[in-house]
Amino acid sequence: MFIALERLINLDDGYRRLFQVDGRSLLLLMVDRQPVLLENRCPHQGAPLHNATVVGTVLRCSRHGAEFDLLNGQSLNASCGNLNLFKLAYDGDRIGIDL
Ligand code: FES
Repeated sequence: MFIALERLINLDDGYRRLFQVDGRSLLLLMVDRQPVLLENRCPHQGAPLHNATVVGTVLRCSRHGAEFDLLNGQSLNASCGNLNLFKLAYDGDRIGIDL
């Protein structure tokens, strides 16, 4: 089942928005002109990520500073798990997620 999150036309540089889907908090943001959807939860100790700093393709959690590559979710800090990324789906002029 496709769940629409946003109109494609709204995905500008700097776009960042939270959605609640199926009991989870998901963060949709534009990274290097690509949309990325991830769970709004830091793999380190669970802090929300919607206020994280993003520089280039690297997201830095505001709680303890763990860093992640947004293009593949990988942690750049050895002691931490990876981001939980979700595959995006498209339907007409909408971007969303297939559940
Ligand atoms: S909770 Fe994100 S770095 Fe610790």
